[in-house]
Amino acid sequence: MTDCLEVINTRSSIRKYTDQPVPEDVCRCLVEAGLKAPTAANKQEIHITVVGKDNPVQAEIQQDLNPNAEVNFYYDAPLTFYLSADENFKWSGVDAGIAVENMHLAAKALGLGSVILGCMERVLNGEKKAEYAKKLGFPEGYQYFVAISVGYADTEKQPHPINFERDVTVL
Ligand SMILES: Cc1cc2nc3c(=O)[nH]c(=O)nc-3n(C[C@H](O)[C@H](O)[C@H](O)COP(=O)(O)O)c2cc1C
Repeated sequence: MTDCLEVINTRSSIRKYTDQPVPEDVCRCLVEAGLKAPTAANKQEIHITVVGKDNPVQAEIQQDLNPNAEVNFYYDAPLTFYLSADENFKWSGVDAGIAVENMHLAAKALGLGSVILGCMERVLNGEKKAEYAKKLGFPEGYQYFVAISVGYADTEKQPHPINFERDVTVL
């Protein structure tokens, strides 16, 4: 088992992937990492939709987001996981954030790279919200909160530096 702090201290967002597919058991492990995250009042309201890079919904989202972009929003990663949750529960956004970070760290621990994605928010929660919710298999009353693309890294990236003095207050 990889040490948790080592994973936290060495992770970074990966935006370039090899073509190597993610095995099914690894995919399952990532989904379970998301579902094992804590949720407010143990509501367990997070739903995860697993989408392969060649699924037409990826191209449709890209088209609505930015048809002229040089790089697509999922960086050609083999898998993208969409996290949706109850749109009327006040902690859904926080819970989705915790779940997606669990998946980001689990990916690193399993030897994969990943990047958390928020940029599709205006498309997935915009005028085609209901259409996308159906296409992505969200449960009734659920909306998109965040996503994560995952694959084998084709690049190396150093962790970002932190500024303890600026960002911490000790009373
Ligand atoms: C809520 C959230 C949304 C993000 N959305 C995107 C995104 O849409 N596209 C992207 O390339 N990176 C996205 N990122 C990754 C951040 O850009 C990245 O974490 C930040 O630049 C720091 O880099 P690091 O993760 O390598 O330390 C997102 C991160 C978070 C936490």
